[in-house]
Amino acid sequence: MPTLAIFHTKGGVGKTAAAVNLAYLAAQSDAPTLLCDLDPQGSATFYFRVKPHVQAGAKVITRGGKHLTQSIKETDYEGLDLLPSDVSYRHFSLALDKIKGGKKRLQESLAPLQALYTYIVLDCPPTLSLLTESILTAADNLLIPVVPTTLSMRAYAQLLAFVYDQHYGDRPITAFFSMVERSKTLHRTVMQETLGHDHRFLKSFIPYTADIEKMGLRREPVGAFAPHSPGALAYAALWQELQSGWLPNPSLQHPMETESL
Ligand SMILES: Nc1ncnc2c1ncn2[C@@H]1O[C@H](COP(=O)(O)OP(=O)(O)OP(=O)(O)O)[C@@H](O)[C@H]1O
Ligand SMILES: [Mg+2]
Repeated sequence: MPTLAIFHTKGGVGKTAAAVNLAYLAAQSDAPTLLCDLDPQGSATFYFRVKPHVQAGAKVITRGGKHLTQSIKETDYEGLDLLPSDVSYRHFSLALDKIKGGKKRLQESLAPLQALYTYIVLDCPPTLSLLTESILTAADNLLIPVVPTTLSMRAYAQLLAFVYDQHYGDRPITAFFSMVERSKTLHRTVMQETLGHDHRFLKSFIPYTADIEKMGLRREPVGAFAPHSPGALAYAALWQELQSGWLPNPSLQHPMETESL
């Protein structure tokens, strides 16, 4: 079953917001879903009001088996479980480095869970480390949020180069524009130029909105507390587009809908 990594080496681009909301939408569509918080910041864990299993930390994944299954917590939403993270995850790469074939350990630990869940969503930390390579090994699909600015596009290009250089380019890579501010000419220009030639980008994008920002206060997916808000509708459209073409068709180019910006 698909393991979807919401992935970028750049921080603060909306990875966790997307992971939380897409995992919520997946579960709402009757697909049992596991959200794995792999970031020592534990933001996804915070959003779901789940207390981390502090003692276990990254060992949960390096050991796998019952250590992992016993750490999985139910959320308030039917069909949505969470593997929480805590600060000890900062030692994750070190722990993987000590294991022979450490790069494959995340994939091996998650493998038995694939019979239980339709989707496994990985909320990834903004790093380039052994953990990054473990995530790339474990993921069937990579989903990259990109803020439409020149520097973010540069970081996206560097990330793609890394993925291909390290021979992970066989995984379907999908990107979407995140934190879009329609009033900004730069955002509109970058989107228009990119959507015209990069088939990896979804047509749906996530706007910069107050309702998504409020998730930090509400500690819920935006669809749960404001289902008709622009943010919730944008994630719903993104999820629908992802599902309808889970593996993006390289021959498809997304026309830019300038009028909707
Ligand atoms: N579309 C949006 N509109 C407004 N605020 C947003 C949006 N997406 C994310 N945010 C806010 O921006 C901040 C960073 O978002 P988020 O934590 O999702 O990014 P991240 O890529 O996971 O960051 P990190 O790399 O630190 O893990 C958070 O405070 C979040 O509430
Ligand atoms: Mg995050």
